Amino acid sequence: MIAIPYLTALTTYFSYGLLFAFGQIRDLFRKIIDWSRANNLQGYAPICLGLEDFYTRRLYLRIQDCFGRPISSAPDAWFDVVERYSNDNNKTLKRTTKINRCLNLGSYNYLGFAAADEYCTPRAIEALKKYSPSTCSSRVDGGTTVLHNELEKSVAKFVGKPAAIVLGMGYVTNSAILPVLIGKGGLIISDSLNHNSIVNGARGSGATIRVFQHNTPSHLEEVLREHIAEGQPRTHRPWKKILVIVEGIYSMEGELCKLPEIIAVCKKYKAYTYLDEAHSIGAVGKTGRGVCELLGVDTADVDIMMGTFTKSFGSCGGYIAGSKELIQYLKYTCPAHLYATSISPPAAEQIISAIKVILGEDGSSRGAQKLAQIRKNSNFFRSELQKMGFEVLGDNDSPVMPIMLYNPAKIPAFSRECLKQNVAVVTVAFPATPLLLARARICISASHTKEDLIKGLEVISRVGDLVGIKYFPAEPKKQEERMVKLD
Ligand SMILES: Cc1ncc(COP(=O)(O)O)c(C=O)c1O
Ligand SMILES: *[C@@H]1O[C@H](CO)[C@@H](O)[C@H](O)[C@H]1NC(C)=O
Repeated sequence: MIAIPYLTALTTYFSYGLLFAFGQIRDLFRKIIDWSRANNLQGYAPICLGLEDFYTRRLYLRIQDCFGRPISSAPDAWFDVVERYSNDNNKTLKRTTKINRCLNLGSYNYLGFAAADEYCTPRAIEALKKYSPSTCSSRVDGGTTVLHNELEKSVAKFVGKPAAIVLGMGYVTNSAILPVLIGKGGLIISDSLNHNSIVNGARGSGATIRVFQHNTPSHLEEVLREHIAEGQPRTHRPWKKILVIVEGIYSMEGELCKLPEIIAVCKKYKAYTYLDEAHSIGAVGKTGRGVCELLGVDTADVDIMMGTFTKSFGSCGGYIAGSKELIQYLKYTCPAHLYATSISPPAAEQIISAIKVILGEDGSSRGAQKLAQIRKNSNFFRSELQKMGFEVLGDNDSPVMPIMLYNPAKIPAFSRECLKQNVAVVTVAFPATPLLLARARICISASHTKEDLIKGLEVISRVGDLVGIKYFPAEPKKQEERMVKLD
């Protein structure tokens, strides 16, 4: 639940209304012009249709300079952003040779492994030399190197499950595994803010999908009760199985999952739990083992543990960890395991090495220091932002912290002004968030120093004043009276 100040809600609606109206008028003109032109595509239906295409053309393109900025270095605490220019009002953007060194507040480099690391990098380079960038083969053919076996063992041990399977991409781990786990006659109950990879995996599975209110165990219970009582559509037979899908840290909200409560509900109704730890594995918990460790949940109580290596481990790929039987079944059946080229060997070595550093198996205490640092950095940055009067979403200990912008005009204003002062931030809007709830999303890293964070805070504070997004100045009580509640 997010509460928007009345005036902000009103002006946000108004802005989108205006953008929409102008877009429609421009589309109308385009239609008329197209009519008068000779058209050799007559008879074909337009290939891009619908509201999302309209949104891209008429809203997103106006601010596309804030997205997809080319980077020319590793995504460390500071990175190189290539300057671009445009001769046609940002319709097309061209690169210059100029590079701006910017504070990086956007990458998921939680533990700082994405930049050169004294332990991981030499080993990844050795793996590159020994195995080449690609196995050029799927796992069941020639694509299983000793690294792949070692990686799966190491991941299973790290997350606290008997076995694991690793795939080349985190997105595919969700979207290709879910259709193997469940199908027609099954019921998926998904958190309303789950990641797109889960949404697409669920849709592709053919199972019935129901959504429960974001991170609300009581509503999950309501949905479970109702659907267990009703059974399958039409036939009312019992469901073949029920899978409840949640995330450890919600990537657009920075919020921790209410895992203990959700597990309790799932156990009561004998539903399986599927936990996506993309943003939490490696980033939270005393030894980096994710939300289970942080919230005191026994990993035996989570049936399917999913995560990605693209955040805390500075690599690529994703995993599923679970019982030996489950993983064996997935290895025999998952198309992304059978038909896709296996994860790149240097990427696999990077993960193996990063896990060793986290566990202290490299013989140093760097891992423990990184974990302490990410926690300290995140909590410091979050509390300072709150003190400044920003509306910051999410929980303590989470390295993801969205700052609410709301107004569409504030998206480019905030992003461009920060960039001018050499702070690179990520802004997210529809379709990644609901239309009204545009935000900037800060991701803190263990590699940020105190000076980095203070510089970031100073710039964000100045820009925040300029753009007018300090929605929570003093007097919180009075504020509350002027809010509309949005679900
Ligand atoms: C919750 C969640 N699951 C899955 C993914 C996909 O992972 P990847 O980017 O490694 O493909 C992401 C990516 O951001 C995510 O946030
Ligand atoms: C184009 O982008 C630049 C920054 O990248 C911005 O300053 C400028 O206002 C934009 N122009 C338009 C017409 O939106």
